[in-house]
Amino acid sequence: MGLNIFVLTGAGISSESGLGTFRDASGIWTQYDLSEVATPEGFARDPAKVRAFYNARRANLAKAGPNPAHVALARLRRDLAARGGRLFLCTQNVDDLHEQGGGADVVHMHGELTVTRCHGCGATWPDREALSGETPCAACGAVGTARPHVVWFGETPLRMDEIEEALEEADLFVAIGTSGSVYPAAGFVSRARRLGIRTCEINLAPSDNARAFDERRYGPATEVVPAWVDEVLRDG
Ligand code: OAD
Repeated sequence: MGLNIFVLTGAGISSESGLGTFRDASGIWTQYDLSEVATPEGFARDPAKVRAFYNARRANLAKAGPNPAHVALARLRRDLAARGGRLFLCTQNVDDLHEQGGGADVVHMHGELTVTRCHGCGATWPDREALSGETPCAACGAVGTARPHVVWFGETPLRMDEIEEALEEADLFVAIGTSGSVYPAAGFVSRARRLGIRTCEINLAPSDNARAFDERRYGPATEVVPAWVDEVLRDG
């Protein structure tokens, strides 16, 4: 049996691609009130404001591209699979830079910016254009229900059963570019420890959860992630 690695990524892996993180000094949540733009209540109060926020995110993503950290994880997935191992790549990010970097089977637990959902019937469809309050839902015909397929605060993250199963099967848990402040993802490291799995944090600087990890590597993701992937593939 080859090595089975569970990787959790956060906004820090996409930061050098030009997408903002959430909680740093100039982060997105210092510029916007998350209760207004990232909750179902905020959407009910002012859907136009919420759509404008995610339209700006879509416009930023259209200008961004994958960086060497995304590409290195795609290489890790291919090379582990070739040796009978597995990479389970779970991301809190709603961008598609892992996929653009050659990744596949990415589990987007907080949803996808490039997908639109009908807030009424739940239908989803791929969409990179600006969200509008006027386009009717292709499935149910409702108007004014178009929202990004993104998990808001107060909503349940996606694919949690699959994630729990993958954690149970992993030999190594690695968190990359996440502050460790949003649950349930922030709890994966303690879950991994209880399962007896080795844990590693890769981040620009120690996160809130740093002490929970067996191993820590600090520096920009574009440098630290490719170096770590080289090591795993050399030693593994
Ligand atoms: P945060 O903005 O909370 O944390 C980003 C982390 O990345 C920080 O620990 C930074 O130190 C680190 N970082 C920044 N630049 C880096 C770089 N170049 N290389 C490596 N690390 C770097 O983002 P998340 O932890 O992803 O949820 O936030 C979790 C969730 O909170 C998001 O998915 C989003 C947000 O609210 C929803 O919208 C539901």
